[in-house]
Amino acid sequence: MPDIALVTGTSSGMGLVAAVDLARAGLTVVATMRDTGRAGALLAAAAAAGVELDVRPLDVTDAAGAAACVDGVLRDHGRIDVLVNNAGRGCVGTAEQLDMDTVRDQLDVNYLGVVALTKLVLPGMRERGHGRVVTVTSVGGAVGQPFADAYCGAKFAVEGFMQSLAVVAERFGVWVSVIEPAAVASDFVANVQRPDATDDPYAELFAAYLARTQSAFDNAQSAAEAGAAIAACATATSYAFRWQTSPGATAFVGMSLADLDGERVLGATRTWIA
Ligand SMILES: NC(=O)c1ccc[n+]([C@@H]2O[C@H](COP(=O)([O-])OP(=O)(O)OC[C@H]3O[C@@H](n4cnc5c(N)ncnc54)[C@H](OP(=O)(O)O)[C@@H]3O)[C@@H](O)[C@H]2O)c1
Repeated sequence: MPDIALVTGTSSGMGLVAAVDLARAGLTVVATMRDTGRAGALLAAAAAAGVELDVRPLDVTDAAGAAACVDGVLRDHGRIDVLVNNAGRGCVGTAEQLDMDTVRDQLDVNYLGVVALTKLVLPGMRERGHGRVVTVTSVGGAVGQPFADAYCGAKFAVEGFMQSLAVVAERFGVWVSVIEPAAVASDFVANVQRPDATDDPYAELFAAYLARTQSAFDNAQSAAEAGAAIAACATATSYAFRWQTSPGATAFVGMSLADLDGERVLGATRTWIA
């Protein structure tokens, strides 16, 4: 019997690709998105790949909606073997530029929504002794970056949650992993939350940061490649907690994990606002 996968945020980008690639790998895929009226690109990609998807609505920040969605999948498919927490949203701005509603929005979509959905699928995975929880975090889940305070804060939080969960879940046959992409060409930049003020004391640094970010995205990895890496992690036959989607992402995360006093990361990211 094929594994049943639930993927969040499949209207665009990596989530769209991962959903199709998982179906191509033989899984039954429940592809979720906030607005199923936006499923056109996903369905076209699925048709081109010769696979079918079960498309359902899910806003990961809506706890009741998430519970109803998981209930519906369990009713119709019997179980969920693979959860891909892909939905997420970026945010630029340094602390003083961020209002607390924006910070909470970032936690809701990138952290609390992921935690809630993970809690919904874990009981069944634990009972069956089999499951995968794959969460798309970011290099920004391991490396703090200027003008990414709220986004990196939320992505660090979700990495901490998942790394803490990993060895406990593993005892019950559930593999918990994070995927850390660097810049990927998707709708991500267009969807980023931005501060209103552009003429504040940070304007010059912010402009330098945006210019540096633009050049990173000029050389971004394709969503096809990053999405394929997500599907590969979700179907891998050996376990690792931390996955990066490109050599650049691996180098960047590696720099931070080996940076005991924090100076290597600060030294590298200082140049971004020079
Ligand atoms: N692109 C990058 O450079 C990059 C780098 C590192 C990590 N990431 C992470 O990769 C993941 C996928 O991003 P992407 O690059 O593929 O960007 P994307 O094209 O903007 O895709 C993000 C997806 O998340 C969905 N989404 C946003 N808020 C949601 C919510 N409340 N509930 C359900 N779905 C929601 C969006 O759906 P709607 O159509 O409803 O808005 C969209 O389908 C995110 O977690 C992001 O943080 C991206």
